Amino acid sequence: MKVKAVPMTKHKQLESWAQEVAALCQPDRVAWCDGSEHEYQSMLHLMVQAGTAQWLDPEKRPNSVFVRSDPADVARVEEFTFICSKSKDDAGPTNHWRDPSEKKKTLTGYFSGCMKGRTLYVIPYSMGPVGSPIAKIGVELTDSPYVVANMHIMARVGARVLDALGTDGEFVRGLHSVGAPLAPNQADSPWPCNAATKCVCHFPETREIWSYGSGYGGNALLGKKCHALRIASVQAHDEGWFAEHMLILGLTNPEGRKIYIAAAFPSACGKTNLAMMTPTLPNWKIETVGDDIAWMKFGSDGRLYAINPEAGFFGVAPGTSMKSNPNAMRTAASNSIFTNCALTPENDVWWEQMSDVPPAELMDWLRRPWTPRDGRKAAHPNARFTVPARQCPVISPDWENPNGVPISAILFGGRRAGVVPLVNEAMSWQHGTFLGSIMSSETTAAAAGAVGALRYDPFAMLPFCGYHMGDYFAHWLAMGAKAEAAKLPRIFYVNWFRKGADGKFLWPGYGENSRVLKWVFERVTGKGEAVETPIGRLPAKDALDLSGLRVPDAALAELLRVDVEGWTAELKGMRAHFGKFGSHLPKGLKDELDALEKRLQAAAVEAGR
Ligand code: OXD
Ligand code: MN
Repeated sequence: MKVKAVPMTKHKQLESWAQEVAALCQPDRVAWCDGSEHEYQSMLHLMVQAGTAQWLDPEKRPNSVFVRSDPADVARVEEFTFICSKSKDDAGPTNHWRDPSEKKKTLTGYFSGCMKGRTLYVIPYSMGPVGSPIAKIGVELTDSPYVVANMHIMARVGARVLDALGTDGEFVRGLHSVGAPLAPNQADSPWPCNAATKCVCHFPETREIWSYGSGYGGNALLGKKCHALRIASVQAHDEGWFAEHMLILGLTNPEGRKIYIAAAFPSACGKTNLAMMTPTLPNWKIETVGDDIAWMKFGSDGRLYAINPEAGFFGVAPGTSMKSNPNAMRTAASNSIFTNCALTPENDVWWEQMSDVPPAELMDWLRRPWTPRDGRKAAHPNARFTVPARQCPVISPDWENPNGVPISAILFGGRRAGVVPLVNEAMSWQHGTFLGSIMSSETTAAAAGAVGALRYDPFAMLPFCGYHMGDYFAHWLAMGAKAEAAKLPRIFYVNWFRKGADGKFLWPGYGENSRVLKWVFERVTGKGEAVETPIGRLPAKDALDLSGLRVPDAALAELLRVDVEGWTAELKGMRAHFGKFGSHLPKGLKDELDALEKRLQAAAVEAGR
């Protein structure tokens, strides 16, 4: 790549910040990214030369590379993710807090000379279509070509963003280093990182991010979790909008009427699959707007409009197949980056469940020969594909609409083996906010740590809310109270992961989830029938379209049963969960919990009669 040491910007503050960082980190070179295809190709070539990446078979996966990370750098590190607000109380009980000036001191030590022997890349990026009134600009300074290449796919980057930034536009400052300086003539490792000293630090008041030591996903692609969720959630709170961990999809019925739905599920709980789903119900259509993040603002007509701030999908590979998500498979057919998958002898990628029968032999993600008899996973459970959203066969024609798409329904959901029914509609915005606040889910491999442990993950934002979660709940309530109630999206709580006594899933999921979406569609367009229950509104008998579905009646009954005992048993945990938020817990949510308890008591009395 041609080294552009001369800044491409007339933005004085950006120029001087880049200079300050260069003086601190002491890179050998500074390169300003222009966002061109040529630059993207140079990054891929650099990675191949360095042994970070290898080309996949160009016939099978044109213009695509395969990357293996260091085994000590494979997921987001929630333990080492910090919110550095002036007051500890502003970070709240769900975040790891550090004093900003102390943390800056420590970080300055880490970053001092940390880019020796490397190039410092300056990546101007826009989260959201460049120039959209909902979009925001950031600049990531990084010493990782892998990050540059991924940012090319995941965000809009380069000269056009600098043009939009002008001479004095606002931007989020993101500084990233793999934390592995090179001595003169020292050979580089294929995946440089600093496993012993990883940290991802956010300074919400000054809109800054400093990330050190990891080159993987959300730790390193700073536009995604760090900017578009943690910093943006604070901006959204201050400015009166929403930054959420939500997919966005368009749903069209057989008569051609379309609505948009946003859905918050925790990491690796099927957002990408739902966003690109092929409905099994005939003549229903889904179009993808986004698969991970939604920024939502009220429009002048009083409706809530959402954009997808990203330009690509950084999806979990294992489990993705032509059966579970053919559209993701087609999106990843070319121009993609695959990380920590397994490699076939034909030089293509493979991961668990990609095919019913695994290949007879593979090279696993740790470069070891692998056969199905080995009994271990060939791909890392958090192996990922980075793919351009525009390649998705069902991408919505409105996915880059600068004004966003109007949202009619919001779904919350998690992985719950028991208690939570297939679908449940909130009785009001406040009740819906309550349902979001008590969301719980089993943990997944998207973050380092135990997998399968049940935890409260309110709004799927537990790892991503950049401020006090109690204030975040209050923000949801306040935004709802200000809006015209009839124009607010309706809120639903779904659970595709309910299991029977035999430990098997009761609901087939995937394309069959269109049945639940159809009911949601009918509810928001005024037709679907519901029954009031102590926990919310469930589909009335026969309201869920089950035509042609082969699920035993007993399983369906269980999926739609209100488990009064199970919910009652959870009240104590909910009270303890709410207790963490102290005086920041809005009264509206406490009222909802009390009301739920009363309704459950009444239902138990009724059942005992
Ligand atoms: C993601 C995550 O990468 O949530 O989207 O971990
Ligand atoms: Mn996510």
